[in-house]
Amino acid sequence: MQTLDKLIGQFFNHNEESLLNNYPGINKNILQESFFDFLGYEIGPGCLLSYSESEKSTKYFNELQKGVPLSYITNVGHFYGREFFVNESVLIPRFETEGLVELAVEHIKTISGPRINVGEIGVGSGCIGLTILSECFDRSIDFRGGEISESALMVARKNYQKLNFCIPDSSSVTFLVNDRLEGEDECHYDLIVSNPPYIKKDQDENLVHHQVREFEPALALFIEDGVYESWFVELFSQIERCLKPDGKFLMEGHENHLVRLKEIASEFSFKEIEIIKDLSSRDRVLSFRKS
Ligand SMILES: C[S@@+](CC[C@H](N)C(=O)[O-])C[C@H]1O[C@@H](n2cnc3c(N)ncnc32)[C@H](O)[C@@H]1O
Repeated sequence: MQTLDKLIGQFFNHNEESLLNNYPGINKNILQESFFDFLGYEIGPGCLLSYSESEKSTKYFNELQKGVPLSYITNVGHFYGREFFVNESVLIPRFETEGLVELAVEHIKTISGPRINVGEIGVGSGCIGLTILSECFDRSIDFRGGEISESALMVARKNYQKLNFCIPDSSSVTFLVNDRLEGEDECHYDLIVSNPPYIKKDQDENLVHHQVREFEPALALFIEDGVYESWFVELFSQIERCLKPDGKFLMEGHENHLVRLKEIASEFSFKEIEIIKDLSSRDRVLSFRKS
């Protein structure tokens, strides 16, 4: 029997190079925190591992040696101070996406009226929509989240059950399988948010970390180069139809492609079209309103 810190220390020292290759910035503390996520509870410093904890640590280390992302090993993704269930059907929630949520929450504060219609395209784990609903606890929001992948939608539904108590009873949540906003009502939404797939499959491939390419769902990441612009033209025309006049759209995008998407958006009847930078001064969010 060993203590966890000793076991993690040994594993880290023996595998440091490959660990850092698969998990940039990883250290012993991160490994320990993630093992606690995997176990579902914490073990005090210096405590000996039980037999079943030792078995679990072996399984955990085996997955690490294969380079499986930590969140897929533990089934836990951290986003905006909350824990989300994740598996290989969904993108692992990213820290930079929290900026999109902040913008959405700020915007919701400016909307008057008893009920607010919020839509999301590509809900994945549900981290964006469910966080917005939780952060706007004092507002009554009718949220509809569309997603093209049925297995991703199962994860979003699971997270809705998990976070149900954070969402006011006066709000409602609907998840549906859909391609963007196909078939949705005209002039319905006050706000639409999205973190769509936005990496050009060929042009940007080398910029994507090998672990992301290998394990995260391609559907969540890539659009074929040849249809990239037409995909967003279709998206924007659906947004134009489904937003109420003055309604707002907020979309996370690729730092190299947002300027072009802004140009495309200016061919529609949108106003206040702007690109918002993230904390590292990279173009991150495209924002506009329907005229
Ligand atoms: C970048 S992920 C974002 C997931 C989640 N919203 C987040 O921020 O972590 C994009 C999501 O869009 C979904 N998606 C891809 N194409 C879509 C389409 N045509 N219509 C709706 N959803 C789509 C993917 O399955 C994936 O879950």
